[in-house]
Amino acid sequence: MTPQDPTPLASIVLAAGKGTRMKSERAKVLHPLLGRPMLFYVLDALQEVQVERTVLVIGHEADQVRQVCGPAHRYAEQTVQRGTGHAVLTALPALEDFEGQVLILYGDMPLLTGAVLRELYAAHLASGDDLTVLTADAPELRDFGRIVRQPDGHVERIVEARDCDPAEYALKEVNLGAYCAKVGLLREFLPRIGSQNAQNEIYLTDLVALASAAGRPVGAVQTADLESSLGVNSRADLAQAGLVLNRRMLHRMMLDGVTVLDPASTWVEPGVRVGPDTEILPGTMLSGQTVIGTGCVLGPHARIVDSRVGDRVRIQHSVLLQAEVEDEATVGPFAYLRPDSRIGPGARVGDFVEIKNSVIGAGAKVPHLSYVGDADVGSRANIGCGTITCNYDGTAKHRTVIGEGAFIGSNTSLVAPVRIGAGAATGAGSVVVRDVPAGALVAGVPARPMRRRDDVCQSPDGQTPNRGEES
Ligand code: UD1
Ligand code: CA
Repeated sequence: MTPQDPTPLASIVLAAGKGTRMKSERAKVLHPLLGRPMLFYVLDALQEVQVERTVLVIGHEADQVRQVCGPAHRYAEQTVQRGTGHAVLTALPALEDFEGQVLILYGDMPLLTGAVLRELYAAHLASGDDLTVLTADAPELRDFGRIVRQPDGHVERIVEARDCDPAEYALKEVNLGAYCAKVGLLREFLPRIGSQNAQNEIYLTDLVALASAAGRPVGAVQTADLESSLGVNSRADLAQAGLVLNRRMLHRMMLDGVTVLDPASTWVEPGVRVGPDTEILPGTMLSGQTVIGTGCVLGPHARIVDSRVGDRVRIQHSVLLQAEVEDEATVGPFAYLRPDSRIGPGARVGDFVEIKNSVIGAGAKVPHLSYVGDADVGSRANIGCGTITCNYDGTAKHRTVIGEGAFIGSNTSLVAPVRIGAGAATGAGSVVVRDVPAGALVAGVPARPMRRRDDVCQSPDGQTPNRGEES
């Protein structure tokens, strides 16, 4: 509703149908598109036109739909799905105290935009007609209802494709499935709709013929945005709708300064925020409430869910779940950051590394083939190749604490709970079962203190200390 226009606007969204062609246990309108139920997109579009209230007509899996959509809406339960007209009739008691205009939408049209709804509403108000139907000249939409116009341009009736005679079937203008009506018209004519048609259903579209025959003007507004009227009836439609929503999302991001190398293989969910000058390489999926900073390079093949990524971070071929990566850190290839992992600024998590519920300090390195779980790794520490925090004793999880600048030799097992002091070192292959003081060196199985680092980890040439992987 525009501020100049005081006409109250309500909406009715039909979401009671079973969605037989989805072949699913789940209510059709709850099938996810980019991680959110398709019905949410319809409700979002309605928010853009600021409806005063929305009545959701539910039936199939009613409790599920009610639970997912929450208490912000009113619900009308259509226990037997007798057709779209019957569904709107079911919603009328929830508008008993309402006077104004009503937008009627189908819950299986997730591509409808606020702009199209504004177009419909504005045309409805401007014409003063009792009912306005959103249409398009789109003969390719063969299953859609056909619009039959009167000589003066008003709409006389809508004929469902399966009820058309050949002349009607040849009509180019189709009913896209969004309407705006005076609530009084609905009250007066909906109860009179019969079910004499191919499906024996009470068709909402028959409201047009009844109103028009009674001399109530019915208008049509044609939109050029055909895409927005895709109805999801099958999984194939669902995939199609997902592609469109994803394309819209990527387009907005690109306008905001994000480079997307291959939009066709990049998926970004609506809750995700990405900073400018970040580059997204092919095969990348960003999901949930993920926030990405500026100047990052993500992918190829990064899957990032509900995570926070700082600026100038590089993440390739990796999976991040509820993780946090600070500025200038690098992750991957082939790293797995599980919930509550925090990778500090400039830190490096390399190939075949799994991190869980751990903090990796600033500039620390876990370059390859390690499991770090329930650990606090100090800044600039180096975790050698093959290191494992043995955090689980069969009953409980325990923490490992590694001090600043510590050096964990290759293939060390750290049997938690255990603390490695700042600047301490472990020899390659050590099994550390006791705390190691700051600056000390331990080695062996189980690890014991050594006098000098070179005592235990000398390289075969006896020259360079070979304490483990350093790169
Ligand atoms: C409808 C229109 C058709 C239009 C097309 C556009 C009618 C009779 N036909 O056909 O003119 O071209 O949309 O996509 O309206 N629903 C209920 N209760 C019911 C029946 C349906 O809530 O008893 C809901 C469904 O869950 C769905 C929506 O109404 O979300 C549309 O119903 P559907 O059967 O898909 O209508 P179409 O055959 O697509
Ligand atoms: Ca439909």
